[in-house]
Amino acid sequence: MNNSELKKLFNSMTLSEKVGQMGQVTPDFFSNEGETTGPVADIKLNTGELYSIGSILGTHKPEQVIDIQKKYLENNRLGIPLMFMADVIHGYETIFPIPLALASTFDTNLVKKVAQLSSKEAVGNGIHVTFSPMADLVRDPRWGRVLESNGEDPHLSSKLTQAYVEGYQGKSLLHKNTLASCVKHFLGYGSSEAGRDYNTVSVSDLELYQNHLPAFKAAIEAQVKLVMTSFNTVKGIPSSANKWLLGNVLRKELGFDGIIISDWGAIQELINHRIAEDSKEATRLAVEAGVDIDMMTSSYIKHLGDFIEDGEINIETINQAVWRILTLKNELGLFEDPYRGLMKLENLDQNLDNIRKELEPITRSVASDSLVLLKNEGILPIKTKSTKVGLIGPKAQTKDLLGAWSWIGDKSEVISIYEGLQEQFERLTLSTIDDTDSISKQDLVIVALGENSDESGEAASRSSIQLQQEQVELLKKVYEINQNVVVLLINGRPIDLTNIVNYCKAILECWFPGTSGGAAIADVLCGRVNPSAKLPMSFPASVGQIPIYYNYLSTGRPKNESNKDEKYISKYLDIANDPLYPFGFGLSFSNFECGKVEFSSGSLSKDAPIKITVTIKNLSNISGKTVVQLYIEDKIAEVARPVRELKGFTKVSVEPLGCEEVVFEITDKDLMYIHSNLKESADKGSFNVYIGFDSLAPKVGEFVLV
Ligand code: BGC
Repeated sequence: MNNSELKKLFNSMTLSEKVGQMGQVTPDFFSNEGETTGPVADIKLNTGELYSIGSILGTHKPEQVIDIQKKYLENNRLGIPLMFMADVIHGYETIFPIPLALASTFDTNLVKKVAQLSSKEAVGNGIHVTFSPMADLVRDPRWGRVLESNGEDPHLSSKLTQAYVEGYQGKSLLHKNTLASCVKHFLGYGSSEAGRDYNTVSVSDLELYQNHLPAFKAAIEAQVKLVMTSFNTVKGIPSSANKWLLGNVLRKELGFDGIIISDWGAIQELINHRIAEDSKEATRLAVEAGVDIDMMTSSYIKHLGDFIEDGEINIETINQAVWRILTLKNELGLFEDPYRGLMKLENLDQNLDNIRKELEPITRSVASDSLVLLKNEGILPIKTKSTKVGLIGPKAQTKDLLGAWSWIGDKSEVISIYEGLQEQFERLTLSTIDDTDSISKQDLVIVALGENSDESGEAASRSSIQLQQEQVELLKKVYEINQNVVVLLINGRPIDLTNIVNYCKAILECWFPGTSGGAAIADVLCGRVNPSAKLPMSFPASVGQIPIYYNYLSTGRPKNESNKDEKYISKYLDIANDPLYPFGFGLSFSNFECGKVEFSSGSLSKDAPIKITVTIKNLSNISGKTVVQLYIEDKIAEVARPVRELKGFTKVSVEPLGCEEVVFEITDKDLMYIHSNLKESADKGSFNVYIGFDSLAPKVGEFVLV
């Protein structure tokens, strides 16, 4: 539809038809299927309201989408199609590793590919909009939602957020297999106090701008179509009612002109936050703050019309919201084809079958690329097929490898660790702890430990981030019998591994690896795939260190080698300041070294960036990939700045005994930071450069910004 046709349609809408577009319900309103929980259970819509509703959340199958859309269009006066939304977080039915695992790849192309493929399967199921990516910056592994994040670093998260949006949306939503992307949760949700979900957030403006905004900015620059508000307060006001946050920051400063959608039930929750007395007041606050779509409550549908008729809210507010919603429907091509190609397919099931067949092998290679080797005392890879391998532990045979946000994922399709290992090792034994004789006879024993999928994700905060005591005991018992122990970890958050690290020769962090998880793990264990992933979050040495992140601010009393025994410095009495495993860390079967580093110039100016070239050598006779990381330290600034910040990363493959050159370009943009006036600019002065394979990379030189 061209713009003037869309305008004409818009002009013919009644007030209640407009208000309807701003509401959303579950599919069971049309088909009596699906789950109704929370405030949705209380929504009682009349027929007029139902057939004016703008979007649906929670369909499962393409046939269901077709049925609902058909029924709806037969009853909607103007023939404005519904938009179908879903949480396509790390796949739809075929499940890729969790986002935190994908972030471990430090590979924007891979993440973009995953988003493209997830879109394809979701589109085949009738979905138009995904509530992904989650761009929340996280620094507290007690918070279960770190699983959905890109980790602790604003630069990495920005690059990956951009890759997700580009992958989902393609070049145009009119192209086949594209989804509109909704970045979430705006803003600061990752800083829920004490890691407890839905808890208070209290961060400074400087912190919000410097750390929490960049990934959202990246999404908006990549033309993301929707932004979701967060459940938390920002400066005391819940995001869904926060005029400053949505109006000044999101609309004006970031220039976002797409749809703002509340999180699930968040408008009603303004009552629990005790800033609204009832749902009418909550409606007024949310609409005045700029929320266009009310996810899953009846607040807008029930109250917006009255506000307009009473002249309490300007119709322009509603008009703008509805125009944005119609614009997205038009961009998705829904006016021309409300079924987005589904009706033209001869066989919907066959189409989905073909997609699954295409995706499954890719889930395997993506998963093997996301496994982080944390420790290896020469025990991995297990080179010979005939090695006697014992397998034990609660994760040995489980199909629970998909992780949270895989609600349509098919568990029966999952390749368990046992099944994956069976493919690679001829003499694999499933061991039990009672059979000490069998354990003692194995060449090595793999102990598979970790979390269940409901122990991380939304509403899955934990005060302890160690493995369950029974698991630790099991590991110790195995180690007593046979010291050739390899630990596999299945989990959705950084775990405190201090109580297990000395009871094994290797640790492979497998996250929730998805549909082909077991096969991918076996690929790494047998050396078919050389691990290359790196931690996107620090792994604490104790829960007491949290929040912990590599890019902490310079303090007045920093701890260093020469003062570490003094009293009045920033340190703990009982433990080190450092995490057990730092951000960016991950081993390989190859042995990489940074060779010569060359700076194209010792100084940089606005128009003249510098290039830093580093030679990466593979000293081993195994080919492999690694992530070369560049960090910068601003020596003197107006405000206290991080001790170092990631500014560049490149995944590079190096042949056995070969070397490769990696070139980083630094521009003045990379040196910009938020000043005390909340404006971004770069200061003249000098900067240290660190290059290496994790956030402890050594200094390689410095340059000056002139
Ligand atoms: C979550 C969102 C999600 C929404 C819809 C909420 O509980 O916070 O991230 O997109 O539900 O499922």
